[in-house]
This record gives sequence, C-alpha cells and structure tokens, in this order.
Amino acid sequence: MSDPKRILAEMSRDLDSQIRLYIKDECPENLIGAVRQYPYAGGKRIRPSLVIASCGAVGGEKSKAIPLAVAIEYIHNFTLIHDDIIDGDEKRRGMITSHMKYGIPTAILAGDALFGKALNVLSELEVSDGDLRRILRFITAAVWDLARGQQMDINNESGKSVTIKDYIETIRLKTGVLFAASAVGGALIGGADNSIIEAIRRYATSLGIAFQIFDDVLGIVGDPVKTGKSITNDIRRGKYTAITCHAVESIKEENEMRTFRSIFGKVDGSEEEIGVVRSILKKSGSIDYAIKLANKYSKDAMSELSLLTSSEDKDFLIELAKYAVTRSV
Ligand code: IPE
Ligand code: IPE
Ligand code: MG
Ligand code: MG
Repeated sequence: MSDPKRILAEMSRDLDSQIRLYIKDECPENLIGAVRQYPYAGGKRIRPSLVIASCGAVGGEKSKAIPLAVAIEYIHNFTLIHDDIIDGDEKRRGMITSHMKYGIPTAILAGDALFGKALNVLSELEVSDGDLRRILRFITAAVWDLARGQQMDINNESGKSVTIKDYIETIRLKTGVLFAASAVGGALIGGADNSIIEAIRRYATSLGIAFQIFDDVLGIVGDPVKTGKSITNDIRRGKYTAITCHAVESIKEENEMRTFRSIFGKVDGSEEEIGVVRSILKKSGSIDYAIKLANKYSKDAMSELSLLTSSEDKDFLIELAKYAVTRSV
C-alpha cells in the first residue's frame, strides 16, 4: 500500500527545483519576494502531484507533465494569495500571509504575476498544438469557475442561510475544478482516451469536494500549528459550510441556538466565544456529519478509478482520496 504523505513529500522534492526555476531574480525586489513566498514555502503539493500521478496512472511518461504541474501550482498559489486577502487571514503555510507581509497592492500583483507565469510555463509543454489548446481551454475555464466559486463563498458569509446543495456547488467551483484540471491535464498528456479522461475528471472533482469539506472541519477543530493556517475565522465571518448548514437544522435547544446565532458571524468574537460555538457544533453532531459527507465524496472518487489498470500511481490516487479525509494538515 502506498503512503500518500511519503509520496507527496518525495514528489514535492522533485518538483521544488522546477517550481523555483522559472522565478528569476528581477526587479522590483519586493514583487519577486512576494511572488516567491508561497511557492517556496511548500505546502502539500497535492495538485501538481495529481498532475504527475494521473499521467502515470494512464501509462504516460510522467516527466512530460512537469511543466503542467508547475503551472498548476503557480495558479493555486496565486489563488491562495488572493484568497488570504479576501478572507483577511494572517497565516498560511506556517508564515505570515502575503498581504500582511508585503501589503495588499503587492500581494494582488504577485497573484497576477504568478498567473501570467503559469500560462507562460504551459508553452513549454511538449504536446501537439491540439492538446495544448485543450489544456489551455480547461485550465483557463478552471480559473474562471474558481472565481465564481470564490464569489459564491463570499456571498455565503454573514449568516445568510445556505443549503447544503449551494455549499457543495460553491466548493465544486472554488476547489473541485482545479483538482479536476490537474488530473485531466495529466491524463491528457499521458495519452488517455476520452472515457478514461472523463472518469479521472469525476474522480478529481469528488476528491476536491471531499478535500474542501474536510478542510472546513480542520478550520474549526484542527490544530493551527499543524495546518499552518489561521483557524476559527470561518465562525467569525459567519461562513456557511457543511458544518453550519447541518447545525442550523440540528441544534435542538433554543438557548444553544440563540448562543450560536449571537456568536456566528461576530467579527470580534473572543476565543472563549469561539470555543462555545465549537462545543455546540460538536454536540449537535455537525462536525461528525461533515466528516461523513467528506467520506462519501472520497468513496465516490475512488469508485471512479475502476477503469484504470493496476499501478503504483493508481494506488497513490486511491490513497490520496483516503488521505484527503483523514489528514491533520
Ligand atoms: C488550500 O489548499 C485551499 C483549499 C482548497 C482548502 P491546500 O490545503 O492544498 O494548500 P497547500 O497547497 O497544501 O498549502
Ligand atoms: C480556498 O478556500 C479556496 C481557494 C483558494 C480557491 P478557503 O478560504 O476555504 O481555504 P483556506 O482555509 O483559506 O486554505
Ligand atoms: Mg481562505
Ligand atoms: Mg476563502
């Protein structure tokens, strides 16, 4: 059985030099510093690993997929910089966030620059013009969808009631589509036929949804030292997730519901108040509900891989789906 954490670490090591390669010393120094901060800090590198493993799992030559893996990591990092501005977060990958360190204008530009560099790196792919066109089409569509998802996520703030269906559609767009673009791109470079590409797209979309549901769980009950990110802000911002969708339907005692409503979305909620909400969410079964829902999507993801023949890369894709809903980072 493959250990996804070990393989992710190995893949990260191989990818790190490539990720650094394209960001040269240039002026102005502060912009280049901001551009380098997130990519150099690491992170789990799940999306580039998905690119490489999907290419391998369909029998492709993995080294051919490296420029796409780098481009996707740059795009992911660009969205993280902008996400941290949007969410007003102070910590990412164990460090102070880009806008807190360099200021909002430089952070916005660093995100833009990474997106530009990502498209530039794609031109290094050794694939046919037709395949390059296909890759460009779905990568840019993913960034478009991600922006839609991020706006829906913003619209879901401030205690405005949201259904679980709306929440799943939001996270499919803000997270699932980039996972799907990573896996589909890898499979395409690996020469997969359309039925396999479709199965891989469904696998990665469900994986992304499972990953995000679980991420929202870690955002409330996770250990910030391990995740390297600010936690509890989702409660302060009144953000609707699977957990809170369940809570508003399930908190039985009137007193508790009143307390929950008075703290959920309170921007200056104290640590103690956040702790009270955390206990209510545990008691109402809302955390368990979200974990179960994440597990359902993880199983859906794995079931899509039956078309693929056995290989180490296929095993890694299966283990990645398990890791998405059991991790602590
Ligand atoms: C963070 O993604 C954004 C979400 C979709 C939850 P990751 O958890 O993959 O972040 P890194 O790349 O490991 O830092
Ligand atoms: C991140 O969503 C999704 C994207 C970057 C598009 P979140 O805001 O939920 O993720 P974290 O918790 O900041 O990583
Ligand atoms: Mg965020
Ligand atoms: Mg966000």
